[in-house]
This record gives sequence, C-alpha cells and structure tokens, in this order.
Amino acid sequence: MVLEAEARSFFSEERESYHAGRSDEGFMLKSGYRLAYHDPERDAFLYHGDCFEVMAAIAAKHPEGCFDMIFADPPYKLSNDGMTCHAGKAVSVNKGQWDKSEGPELDFEYTKNWLALCQQLLRPNGTIWVSGTHHIIHIVSYAMQLLGYKILNEITWEKPNPPPNLSCRYFTHSTETILWAAKNKKSKHVFNYDEMRAENGGKQMKSVWQFLPPGKDEKVFGKHPTQKPVKLLDRIIRASTRPGDFLLDPFAGSSTTGVGAILNGRKYCGIEAEIGFVELSAARLEGLNLGAF
Ligand SMILES: C[S@@+](CC[C@H](N)C(=O)[O-])C[C@H]1O[C@@H](n2cnc3c(N)ncnc32)[C@H](O)[C@@H]1O
Repeated sequence: MVLEAEARSFFSEERESYHAGRSDEGFMLKSGYRLAYHDPERDAFLYHGDCFEVMAAIAAKHPEGCFDMIFADPPYKLSNDGMTCHAGKAVSVNKGQWDKSEGPELDFEYTKNWLALCQQLLRPNGTIWVSGTHHIIHIVSYAMQLLGYKILNEITWEKPNPPPNLSCRYFTHSTETILWAAKNKKSKHVFNYDEMRAENGGKQMKSVWQFLPPGKDEKVFGKHPTQKPVKLLDRIIRASTRPGDFLLDPFAGSSTTGVGAILNGRKYCGIEAEIGFVELSAARLEGLNLGAF
C-alpha cells in the first residue's frame, strides 16, 4: 500500500487533486503552493508558489529527474532604482521587489540553490537554458561550474531596437546572454543541428541571435515587465528538445516558455510566485485555443 502510494507520480497526484477541486486557497495555505492551472490535453501545469518549494516537492517524488529541458529567466537583480527609456519617456528600471539585488554573496547563494534544484530535476541527458544580463549571468556561470553542469553555449540575444541610454555615459545596452548547459559532463544532450542549419539558410547556426522584443500581438492578455519573445523560446525549444518532451520554467512570468512548448507539441510545467502573473500565464495558455497568446 505504502509502496503503491510512493510509486504514484507527483504530477498525477496533483492532477487528481486539481480536478477534484482541492487545489484551492486552503490547499495553497497548507502546502505553500497550488496547482493553479492544468490542461489535461496538452499536459500543461502551472503552479502558483515559490519555485524553491515546488521544485523540492517535485524532486522528492522524482529524485532522478523528470524534465528534458529547463528554461529559467530568473530575477536579473537589476532593479537598482536607475532609469531607462520606454516609448520616448524616462521610466524606472525597477521590475518589482523580486528583482532587487541583495549583494553579490547572497545573490550567488540564491542562484546556486535554485540551480542545484534544477540540476536534480533534469533527466540524465537534459539541458538548461538561463538568461541574464551582466548583473546576474556571471554568477549563474560560476554557480553552474561549481555544481558540475557542462556549459554548451553562450548565446547572445541581440535586440535590434534597444532603448537609448539616457545618461549618455555608457554604450547602449542591446544584448542579453543565454547560457545553455547540460546536467553534467556525462550527459548526451539533444541538439537538432539539421533543423537549426536549415533555419539559417543551410549554414551552421551561430551563437548570436537577433530577435525583436515581444510586440502587441504577444500582449493581448496583458503584459509582463520582462516578457521574452515567443520566437526566442521557439528556437530554444526546437533546438534542444523533441516532441513530447517535458519542459520546466521555474520563473514562469507570463509563461512564454509554456506558449512555445505547446505550440511545438511539448509538455510544460511553469512555476510563478505572483498571482497577477499566474493569471496572465493561464490566460495566455488558454488563449492558444483561440489562436492568440
Ligand atoms: C524575469 S521574469 C520571467 C519572465 C518570463 N520569462 C516571461 O517571458 O514572461 C521572472 C519571474 O519570476 C518570478 N519569481 C521571482 N522569484 C520567484 C520564486 N522564488 N518562485 C517563483 N517565481 C518567482 C517573478 O514574479 C517574475 O514573474
């Protein structure tokens, strides 16, 4: 009996409790998180809660890992009360309390802890993509090396139309870095080389990618302050996963990863701490049924 209970997967228990109407506020207060959205046809799961807690709960049921790929767009820790330019106006760079830096030592501890959970949750040949700017990406790289990930590529996402630098004391910031790494040195990672080469007109795809930020068509259900373009996630997913693979995004935001996953026939698990972004995510995932996101 006990064995049978243990053998049940985290996701099937969660699915049952969600569809039995038990994933309500009470459930969330008791466990600290709740399954806020589940699409049984596409196997899309969205948790409202702290990713440390949800990932630890999944790892307790799947200690050998259950995800083929993770995309993590963590807090960049760049909300330092500075200014930037948006639609020709000076606006604060602050994204929210979740994006405040606590100094390099604590930012490193935080980063290493969530990266360790992600590493446990990856299947043996799974890979992780992590985006960031200079505020966090070097910490991510150092933590990955300490944890024994194998770094595969450093992608530069170049934005063709960056906002101007208002102070005129720096070069215009126009790139973000995305590190791609395998779970460990033994991993035999998936890379859909031919598909990437075909997309690049028959030449090897390089590590500098140009994509515009998300346009209005990606914000019909509302917007997130650091929303990624669907085209970026689409390429990442097609490059490194196979149809039917299970993808995790621990810092889901508006679930751009989920949109890219579903559009490409992959399964999705997102985790997001802020209820407003959980609702936006659910609206975008549901909107796919109507052909919008
Ligand atoms: C950089 S944004 C991700 C944006 C996302 N890639 C998109 O396209 O919309 C990071 C998100 O992580 C969430 N977050 C921060 N700390 C978290 C935590 N401990 N657990 C879960 N979500 C968290 C924030 O609320 C924010 O929405």
